[in-house]
Amino acid sequence: MTLAQAGTLWAALEALPRPTLSALFAAGDRLGRYSATLDLPGGPILFDWSKTHLSPEVEELLGAIAEAMDLAGRRDALISGEKINNTEGRAAEHTAERGIGKDTSVEEADALHARMRMLVDAIHEGALGEVKSLIHIGIGGSALGPALAIDALTREGAKLAVHVVSNIDGCALEAAMKACDPHSTLIAVASKTFTTTETMTNAASALEWLREGGVADPYGRVVALTASPEKAVEWGVDETRVLPFSETVGGRYSLWSSIGFPVAMALGWQGFAAFLDGAAAIDRHFIDAPLAGNVIVRAAFADLYYTQARQCQTRGVFAYDERLRLLPDYLQQLEMESNGKRVLADGTPLARPSAPVTWGGVGTDAQHAVFQLLHQGTHLIPVDFLAVKTPGHDLDPVHHQILLANCFAQGAALMAGKASDDGARAYPGDRPSATILCDDLNPATLGALIAFHEHRTFVSAAMLGINPFDQFGVELGKAIAKQIEAGGGDGFDPSTEALLAAAGIGG
Ligand code: F6P
Repeated sequence: MTLAQAGTLWAALEALPRPTLSALFAAGDRLGRYSATLDLPGGPILFDWSKTHLSPEVEELLGAIAEAMDLAGRRDALISGEKINNTEGRAAEHTAERGIGKDTSVEEADALHARMRMLVDAIHEGALGEVKSLIHIGIGGSALGPALAIDALTREGAKLAVHVVSNIDGCALEAAMKACDPHSTLIAVASKTFTTTETMTNAASALEWLREGGVADPYGRVVALTASPEKAVEWGVDETRVLPFSETVGGRYSLWSSIGFPVAMALGWQGFAAFLDGAAAIDRHFIDAPLAGNVIVRAAFADLYYTQARQCQTRGVFAYDERLRLLPDYLQQLEMESNGKRVLADGTPLARPSAPVTWGGVGTDAQHAVFQLLHQGTHLIPVDFLAVKTPGHDLDPVHHQILLANCFAQGAALMAGKASDDGARAYPGDRPSATILCDDLNPATLGALIAFHEHRTFVSAAMLGINPFDQFGVELGKAIAKQIEAGGGDGFDPSTEALLAAAGIGG
């Protein structure tokens, strides 16, 4: 394989004729080719990529790039636990948490899950006394997944109330504390490294709150979720309440590990196990389905086509389901922290655009706020719509009918457009969208949806030759903040100096 070969193919992709979506539909059976339903443990999920500009010609070139970049080999290396995170010298073994991967890694993940299950079950059975609520403290990958899963899956009730706190802004922790009684609250401190400033500061304040609330042994109410168990013990958590996970599970891929503890606490172990099963079914599809009929590869191909050949700089994700309102936030970290890179895995410059900006919101709200730009703005923005056939509420079914009608109407309108002699009222159309329609939203479906996006992100990275598993770009800002916190306010640019002086912080 060579990057040079791929480079020529990317150029050819850009030079291909660009038939409109209507012309592509007129040319043949697009639904047969670009829409597929997977039968998954949580129920069927329909993946409809027919309203994108994928065509046999586009796919042929992307298939050739996949071959040049050894996509199949990269996938196998991921699953078999090779050290594909080369800049940090380790494997990326989130699939092992779902039972798919190198035998020894799957065994280790199983053993850690068994330990987690024992603690979850023991707490549910009263081992730590009355527990009505859980404050989960973490940030980034240690918070976004739990927040999404709890918000999506516990609307009809949960075994306990979970509050996810991430921001260092005390307003966030204070709000959670106000909603809880220190005598019936557990604190989960979730941090892969157990060093993250926001998390450790919030955790210390939460301990103080327990102490001030009259809890005799505040540390006795803390559970640590981490890949650095020794640091958690050093910090004061008893070893029996430290739930470790493997260093080879990346932060933004860690929801399947002990970082999922609040999910297991809220749903019960069966629910968490179903979540893992749903993800594993997608892993199997990724591994077993030929690249040509692989829904994950197809989604990534469309992403790459728009970013690489059509210069699209952003990608929109709109959940037409209130339960999935946090999915765009989750995907932002997954996609932008993974693939927002300017160098190849070997450190040489990436000569192509990297990940698009992922953004989005919830339908129908977003229609009344940002869809104007999607329909008539000058940017071409590929959009994903996500919807669920079964409503998550007991109100009049008309709510759900209107919701779904709007979701499908948007895709149709973006594609068809509408001519008008009045420029302001004309819609150009030919704007792409993809739709993911789940039969039901349950733990297994959510697991499948997240795993689908994980692998989609991985395919894009493999096709470009970048390492999606590091995130050095976040370090510089952190280091400067630490310098300021330590009083080292000298030597910044005049604007920063003036801001520090105006706020009265720093040196
Ligand atoms: O700063 C970015 C990051 O390292 C993310 O990748 C990670 O999910 C987050 O911080 C939290 O890290 P930790 O789990 O180690 O506290």
